[in-house]
Amino acid sequence: MSPPISAPLALGVAEAAAPATLPAHVAIIMDGNGRWASARMLPRIAGHRAGAQAVRRTVEAALRHGVGWLTLYAFSSENWRRPATEITDLTGLLRHYLKSEIDAFVANGVRLRVIGERDRFSRDIQDELLQAERRTIANTKLNLTVALSYGGRAEIAAAARRVAAAAVEGRLDPAAIDEESFASALFTAGMPDPDLIVRTSGERRLSNFLLWQAAYAEFIFLDVLWPDFGPLHFAEAMAEYARRERRFGARPG
Ligand code: IPE
Ligand code: IPE
Ligand code: MG
Repeated sequence: MSPPISAPLALGVAEAAAPATLPAHVAIIMDGNGRWASARMLPRIAGHRAGAQAVRRTVEAALRHGVGWLTLYAFSSENWRRPATEITDLTGLLRHYLKSEIDAFVANGVRLRVIGERDRFSRDIQDELLQAERRTIANTKLNLTVALSYGGRAEIAAAARRVAAAAVEGRLDPAAIDEESFASALFTAGMPDPDLIVRTSGERRLSNFLLWQAAYAEFIFLDVLWPDFGPLHFAEAMAEYARRERRFGARPG
């Protein structure tokens, strides 16, 4: 049995978002795999495996709804602090997932991108990631971005280093640095900012996800654990988003 989703989101699928109010970019903090496993007296890896199934369902839901951009937080820069056994399990699962999903991505028009410090992964995983990105580069239906060894602060610091180096080398006038040019030094260069950020598991925090890009995102926090997340939760999140009024600092209209 899935835990109930939070009350304000208990909307019917009939109220699913009209195209005009569909978020262009949905980002999800996929949290709660460990708790899902403990509740079943299973090892944490069982929760991560079930979480990978939820990823598949979510990609399918995004395709069905016609969401153009889906970004999934799969592993944070800080998650390297976990026990070595869990890291090994997670990287093993990542390898397996890439192999099992790539054909479906190609068939369904999904373009895969990875953001994060990819050089912290082993050489073979880095190669697999690059290969998957290359194989899907021409796809346009769904832009699926997976955040791996991703941290918002590390991303901003890396961008600052790049911009500073360009200034020191005389390729960039410091007075010309603006929000747009700085954003183009981030991992997410060329991607739209997320319109909606969903976090599962009941935690209400960003945990270092898309700090710069989340400036005007809408947030939805769900009490469902990630392995229980399914198409209905996705549809309900779309419906809730459609009810939000976004202002971007302007006067309420
Ligand atoms: C999210 O689930 C997956 C990763 C962070 C890799 P967790 O592993 O954080 O699960 P909980 O939060 O301990 O339940
Ligand atoms: C955030 O979850 C990262 C991912 C979901 C990949 P965590 O479980 O690592 O976050 P905290 O530690 O609860 O803030
Ligand atoms: Mg967690």
